[in-house]
Amino acid sequence: MWLAILGTATNASTNANACSFKDLCPALANKTYFNYGGQGPLPTPALEAMTSSWKTIQERGPFTTAVWPFIEQETSRLRGALAALCGVAPHRIALTENVTSGCVLPLWGLPWSSSDELLISDCEHPGVVAACRELARREGLSIATLPVLELCRSTPQAQLETAVLDQLEQHLKGSTRLVVLSHLLWNTGSVMPIASVAERLQDHPRQPWLLVDAAQSMGSIPVEAAARAADIYAFTGHKWCCGPEGLGGVALSERLLEQAQPTLIGWRSLRQESAAGSCWHQDARRFEVATSCVPLMRGLLTSLELLEAEGDAASRLQSIRQRSGQLWEGLNKRGDVQTLLPEPPPAGLVSFVLTGQDSAAVVERLGKAGLWIRRLDDPDCLRACTHITTTPAEVEALLNAL
Ligand SMILES: Cc1ncc(COP(=O)(O)O)c(C=O)c1O
Repeated sequence: MWLAILGTATNASTNANACSFKDLCPALANKTYFNYGGQGPLPTPALEAMTSSWKTIQERGPFTTAVWPFIEQETSRLRGALAALCGVAPHRIALTENVTSGCVLPLWGLPWSSSDELLISDCEHPGVVAACRELARREGLSIATLPVLELCRSTPQAQLETAVLDQLEQHLKGSTRLVVLSHLLWNTGSVMPIASVAERLQDHPRQPWLLVDAAQSMGSIPVEAAARAADIYAFTGHKWCCGPEGLGGVALSERLLEQAQPTLIGWRSLRQESAAGSCWHQDARRFEVATSCVPLMRGLLTSLELLEAEGDAASRLQSIRQRSGQLWEGLNKRGDVQTLLPEPPPAGLVSFVLTGQDSAAVVERLGKAGLWIRRLDDPDCLRACTHITTTPAEVEALLNAL
């Protein structure tokens, strides 16, 4: 699919398709890596593609009429590719720097009234929660919590959809105006039923907005149904997509595009620079701001193309789950480990507690042995992620080192 969408494979990436993705990542050559949910490794062809894009900009420009068509081409190619991944039209995609700006910029542009309530799941990332709290303080909104953490810990994934929808039912009020729920929870590793939640919200008299943090889902599980259904579906290129840091995107709903105003405003928000202040883009570009790093776009496109060459999202998820399942099973054979989930994970995040051991000390000890996992604060646990690059031997090495 990517080859068709992009039609732009660099020589480097085309030749590299013969190798496995793992062999293309210098970061994976000298360590055993399980922090894909923090940041993915950058394949060398993506780095080379960025250098080549930078060279083109310098050779043609940098600020000349000769360079603008190139910049326009790079931007619209990436927008089109991300739109295809999300299953939405390109005008619904805004390019951002990261997950957080994709969540916060449109969120702050929504029309609020002081009786509105924000319903935020108890598994959201601290940065997004902080932005909601500050929004609530400034606009006089109230905040309520949607408890999903304990549900995830006790409910098999097959029954989780019903359990989450029941919980939502109990917490929706007449004043609920926004629900914040990640697609793939960064702490437990559970998948949330985003499309069903969106459907339920449409039946609510006030049709609350649905903000979805897609930090862990984009690049690791199929996202179309959720991205199409959410009002704000914000993601980054630097985690599971293995692109460069500093480039992400957000898929926005049609109703959000009609009703939300730009927030962090700059020339890229404007349809016509000469009519400053009155002439926003009608599409998602109203949430783009100003100058950003164009070569990163070619880097992300190349990484996505290389991932696609390894299989579509559904088949990549199968490999990811084979390894996360292997890890989950291995952990559960030990008497001193409690996994957060009651069954093998639906994606690549495996969180667990090592009883009687300080998690920070475990991370440090493993790091010294060249194995990289991370600690999470809430709940206090360890998290190891598996990607398509993870091998059975690496999982065994982690289990032995633990
Ligand atoms: C669930 C979740 N949301 C948001 C973020 C922040 O991502 P970014 O730095 O791309 O904004 C992270 C980063 O780990 C995350 O895991």
